[in-house]
Amino acid sequence: EKGGYEHFMLKEIFEQPKSIHDTMRGRLLVGEGIIKMAGIWDHIEKFKNANRIIIIACGTSWHAGLIGEYLIEEYGRIPVEVEYASEFRYRNPIITDRDVVIAISQSGETADTMAALKLAKEKGAFIYGICNVVDSSIARITDAGSYTHAGPEIGVASTKAFTAQLTILTLIAFKLGKHNGNLGNADFMSLIAELDAIPKKVEDVLSSTHEQIQEIAKDFVNATNFLYLGRGYNYPAALEGALKLKEISYIHAEGYPAAEMKHGPIALIDENMPIVIIAPKKGHYDKIVSNVQEIKARKGKVIAVVNKGDRQVSEMADYVIEIPETSECFSPIVASVPLQLLAYYIAVYRGANVDQPRNLAKSVTVE
Ligand code: F6R
Repeated sequence: EKGGYEHFMLKEIFEQPKSIHDTMRGRLLVGEGIIKMAGIWDHIEKFKNANRIIIIACGTSWHAGLIGEYLIEEYGRIPVEVEYASEFRYRNPIITDRDVVIAISQSGETADTMAALKLAKEKGAFIYGICNVVDSSIARITDAGSYTHAGPEIGVASTKAFTAQLTILTLIAFKLGKHNGNLGNADFMSLIAELDAIPKKVEDVLSSTHEQIQEIAKDFVNATNFLYLGRGYNYPAALEGALKLKEISYIHAEGYPAAEMKHGPIALIDENMPIVIIAPKKGHYDKIVSNVQEIKARKGKVIAVVNKGDRQVSEMADYVIEIPETSECFSPIVASVPLQLLAYYIAVYRGANVDQPRNLAKSVTVE
């Protein structure tokens, strides 16, 4: 049932071209120039009149939510807040019937997310679910929602569910932007055409980086710490890269917005500190170049994720992983794939049980 792969996690990483495509199927109609999402369309007035959107989630789904904030604010121009479900539910949040609350959950059973949603519902918010498991508790309690069609995710570390969540959030952002006029028709058309091509780009990244990442991973089997840095859309991608590594390899890893480095983490950098830096052309590239200079001045080991043909960062980096160029909003999808592979191979070489990491459960039904 692992389809010839050694672990479910690897199988699920390689399923992403299909799971992203399945998540868009029937929704992204490029020929007709529309995004069809009944859950949004049937309640479009709720979204249109919303004071703000609050996204609640835990773990990897929370990282997807952070990227959702960039997407929905950029294209939908609706204020978004992203909260850990566990914090939201216990801090007496201010919620009104003008708020739209979106819960993101692969399992649809996460206790904290469920409790946070119940609270929001009691206070009159419109609640929307982005779940992978059909008919799960969260899918049932929400007023409306959109399923990610990632298929069953067995590996405890979330991979294909995450990129499917990003796909749904992208569709929602574009749909809201188109509807409220913030996204003009020409931009909308070119963005949806680009989204349609993302599964192919993910497939290209998988085939072009798979062997190389196995080689890179060998050099970091004995690492004790890792830093992951990114800016803008790729700041949450850095958090997610770090989470993947720590949960399956048990190497301590921290994700940071790259510019925050000089407010603390830079003190950690020496020749023993590996730093994964996500540096696509369209994501504050010049700023990232100076961050890499600062790291190299302190002899940190740089593993850079860059666009094909990159020069400036690549010349300074110790390891270069190339991803295809995309608009910035799609870069976390494409950049996350090699980071999943890197975490996977480092964990495998350390002899860790990647599908069932110690102390973790696939769905956290207790708080
Ligand atoms: C990380 C991971 C967890 C989950 C979190 C939320 O790889 O699997 O951090 O993302 O427990 O789970 P769901 O999405 O099922 O609510």
